[in-house]
Amino acid sequence: MAYSGPFQPGDRVQLTDPKRRHATIVLQPGGEYHTHKGIIRHDDIIGADEGTVVRSEQGYEYLCFRHLMVDHVLSMPRGAAVIYPKDSAQILVEGDIFPGARVLEAGAGSGALSMALLRAVGEKGTVISYEIREDHLEFAEANVDEYFGGRPANWEPHLGDLREVTRETIGGPVDRVILDMLEPWECLETVKDLLIPGGVFMTYVATVPQLMKVMEGIRELKCFTEPRAWESLVRDWRVEGLATRPEHRMNAHTAFLVMARRLADGVTPPRPQRRARK
Ligand SMILES: C[S@@+](CC[C@H](N)C(=O)[O-])C[C@H]1O[C@@H](n2cnc3c(N)ncnc32)[C@H](O)[C@@H]1O
Repeated sequence: MAYSGPFQPGDRVQLTDPKRRHATIVLQPGGEYHTHKGIIRHDDIIGADEGTVVRSEQGYEYLCFRHLMVDHVLSMPRGAAVIYPKDSAQILVEGDIFPGARVLEAGAGSGALSMALLRAVGEKGTVISYEIREDHLEFAEANVDEYFGGRPANWEPHLGDLREVTRETIGGPVDRVILDMLEPWECLETVKDLLIPGGVFMTYVATVPQLMKVMEGIRELKCFTEPRAWESLVRDWRVEGLATRPEHRMNAHTAFLVMARRLADGVTPPRPQRRARK
């Protein structure tokens, strides 16, 4: 799939009309897109630069851009709730997903996080995704394949329960583990076994009881650093002269993020020191 340059056949293009309504088409030579304002010919878009304006037969104007990954994630079919872009962004940086990394994720769900991970690890990296539900794995595979225009060579999706995965099953340890599931504490022993010393573990949980349970589970295993928990809040702003102000509506809560690093084997974690109460 091309990410830049003039439009080519096979590109997924987002058309935006003057009322800011979107439609997505996949370019095919000779193809046509029928709108209530007349036909748009794909050949009028193929070869043009991104950001071009195409006119329907009735002269209605549509702005043309390639589908970004966020557009795909927010519009693709879902089996399970996706990790939203604001949280995937946190995971990529706070989870230190580097080019060439071997990353394990579970569950694959709808494949939203898989896509972000696959781009970040690059061609020399690997993303191993476990999903316990066959119907969800099918969504993940279809969404990832559609976005990349085929199965990425650096992706290993598996149907299965992460709790049963061993180093032998996946051919060695991993640099990073990311969990997005209802009961991540049930997979902590597996994470402990699969993660290299210094490796980063992150999990994404929606509720306070889940957060408390997974934090306690991490501490009890005594093979991780003191876990850190946080959430990210993103508030859009309307910037229009004297009416400039934050938007009225926002997604105030998606989930909490938790991060800890794997200690070397046999090391006892130093006890966190808390400030004495006055
Ligand atoms: C919220 S969804 C994940 C969404 C995904 N991160 C995304 O961005 O599209 C949680 C998924 O975890 C899967 N799951 C739960 N427990 C699991 C386990 N032990 N092993 C593998 N997958 C599991 C569920 O079937 C579900 O599809």
